[in-house]
Amino acid sequence: MLVLGIESSCDETAAAVVRDGHEMLSSVIHSQIELHAEYGGVVPELASREHLGRIETMVREALDKAGVSLSQIDAIAVTQGPGLIGSLLVGVCYAKALALGLGIPIIGVNHIEGHVYSVVFENPPVEYPALALIVSGGHTNLFFVPEEGKYKVISRTRDDAAGEAFDKVAKMIGLGYPGGPAIEKLALNGDKNKIRFTRAKISDGRPDFSFSGLKTAVSRYISDNAVTDEQDKADLAAAFQHSVVDTLVDTMERQARELKPKTLIVAGGVACNLALREAAENAAKRLGVPAYFPSKHLSTDNAAMIAAAGSYHLSKGKRSDLSMTADVTLRLQNLDTEPAVAGKRKRYRT
Ligand code: KG4
Ligand code: ZN
Repeated sequence: MLVLGIESSCDETAAAVVRDGHEMLSSVIHSQIELHAEYGGVVPELASREHLGRIETMVREALDKAGVSLSQIDAIAVTQGPGLIGSLLVGVCYAKALALGLGIPIIGVNHIEGHVYSVVFENPPVEYPALALIVSGGHTNLFFVPEEGKYKVISRTRDDAAGEAFDKVAKMIGLGYPGGPAIEKLALNGDKNKIRFTRAKISDGRPDFSFSGLKTAVSRYISDNAVTDEQDKADLAAAFQHSVVDTLVDTMERQARELKPKTLIVAGGVACNLALREAAENAAKRLGVPAYFPSKHLSTDNAAMIAAAGSYHLSKGKRSDLSMTADVTLRLQNLDTEPAVAGKRKRYRT
C-alpha cells in the first residue's frame, strides 16, 4: 500500500511517500525557519501563506523522488491537528481535494501520534507495551502505549513545552530561533554543574512536567548575574539543558519502573538533542529495554511519520470522510477518559 503523507501543522510544509507503513520512499520538507527567524518565533499568518505557495511543489517533489505517479497512490494521510489553524487548513484542504479528485481514501492523522510513528523507519519493530516521550516545540507528553494505536497520557506539561522553553531561554541569552540547536551547541562548551536549577515539583502528585519556573529562574539568574561573557552563557546553557533533560528522563524512567514497557520511544524536535538521547539511552540500559529515536530528519516535523501513522489506521479499515476538517485541539485518545465528543471542541469548517 502506497500512502502519500502531507504535513503542514506549523512551519514545515512536508510531503512523503511511504510503502506498507514503514518503508520511506521519499520525504521532503520545506522549512520556514528563515522566514520566521527575524520575528523570533512562528508568525501564523505568514506560515499559512507560505504553506499555500509550497504545498503543490512539495507533493510533486515527494512523488518524483519516490519514482511514483499520483495514479499509483492508494491513500492520503494528512495532519488534522493539533497545530495552527491556518497552517493545518492548507494541508487538509489540499489533501481532501486530491483524494476526491483521485477517488482514493483519506485519513486525518493526529500530529503527536505521527511523532510516535517517526521511529518505525530506522528501528526494529516496536514491541508493546511501549512508553513514548514526545518532546517538541508545542508538546511535551509521556504516553503509555499498551498496544499499537492505544494511548494513555501519563504526563503532560502544565505550562511550556520543553522545546518552547529551549526557544525562550535561547532568546534570553541572545541566540537565534529555533533555540534548541543553538542552546545545544553553546552547552558543549559549558559546565552543567556551575549553576544548579531546582527541578519543578507538581504539588498534586501527578507526574506532569512544568518548565515555566525554570524559565523564570534562568531569567532571574541573567538579571542578577549580568551574564555577558561567552563562558557564562555556555555554563548557563549547559545547566538549563541539563535541568530539562534530567526532568524528562527522570520522569520517564520512574514511570517505566512502574509500567514495565518493552520499548522506550523518544521523538519530536527536542529528540534531536544529543544530551537527551544519551540520558534516555542510559536510562534504557538501566531498565534493560531498547530506546528508539528517529534520526534528525524524522525528529522534527515531517510527512513520513504522518504517512506511517495513517497507514496503520488505514490497515485497520479506518477512513476519514470528506467532512473531516482541521482540529487545532485534537487529542490523542486517553484510555482513562473517552475522547471529547465531536462538536464540543472548537472546530473549524473547511
Ligand atoms: O517537532 P518540532 O519540529 O515541531 C513541533 O511540533 O513543535 O519541534 C521543534 C522544537 C523547537 O522548539 C526546537 O527548539 C526544538 O524542537 N529542537 C531542539 C533541538 N532541535 C530542535 N531542542 C533541543 N535540542 C535540539 N538539538
Ligand atoms: Zn511536531
